[in-house]
Amino acid sequence: MPTLARCVSRARVDIMGWFTKKMKQEHKIMLQHELAAGIVQPEYHRATPECLEPQRWSMIDSMTAEVEVLEFIATLVTTIKPQLVVETGSFLGVSTEWIARGLERNGPSADGKDGRVISCEYDPEVYAKAKQRIDGSPLSRWIELRNESSLDMQVDGTIDLLFSDSDMPVREAEVKRFLPQINPNGIILMHDASSHLKVVREAALKLEAEGLISVVLLPTPRGLVIAQPRAGRQ
Ligand SMILES: C[S@@+](CC[C@H](N)C(=O)[O-])C[C@H]1O[C@@H](n2cnc3c(N)ncnc32)[C@H](O)[C@@H]1O
Repeated sequence: MPTLARCVSRARVDIMGWFTKKMKQEHKIMLQHELAAGIVQPEYHRATPECLEPQRWSMIDSMTAEVEVLEFIATLVTTIKPQLVVETGSFLGVSTEWIARGLERNGPSADGKDGRVISCEYDPEVYAKAKQRIDGSPLSRWIELRNESSLDMQVDGTIDLLFSDSDMPVREAEVKRFLPQINPNGIILMHDASSHLKVVREAALKLEAEGLISVVLLPTPRGLVIAQPRAGRQ
């Protein structure tokens, strides 16, 4: 069991590390997440024309989706009852757990199968932390974590819900990659689609202009696209 003194000294070493060597953003925020110990704070993202008061939203850290967005995703899961959810960009698996919470509440389908979420994280260090967290979670039976890139990940079956939350520049490619497997009645969520962050918003609008998906831009601090494939719609 680590003593408080050991934790404080470890935190000091970690904080000093931020100054002494250039740390990958994900690793820095991973440490901030540990130090915050689940305490929520006001959203850090600056105001945009579509979301004027971001401080009214909450966050655990700047990588993990806004708390309200996590709640929205869990509610979406209980609303549409997906059997297969795919998430790109697990980070520490917080959003993965919220998805799993919805799947747990849904219970099994008529054929006795539980819904499941497959989530990928390509950074091995971040993946190891996420895996440790999820392995110790009562929700682990609904979750499959993979240490791979969204651009390589192979998933069998029909995807009922895709949560795209990886590196912003690859979102267009990953949505295109999974699109043929997405249930025509399914939902695609693309996070970080604010007018400030731009890249994901532009990718979503481009996919819409190409006739591939229909999009709604939700005015959240970091922006959230809710979309549906155009092909096969009844
Ligand atoms: C915004 S964070 C994800 C946050 C998480 N979904 C949540 O809300 O709790 C993005 C994560 O995606 C990972 N990542 C970036 N590009 C990726 C890719 N192509 N495939 C898989 N993971 C990726 C990063 O290492 C980072 O941990």
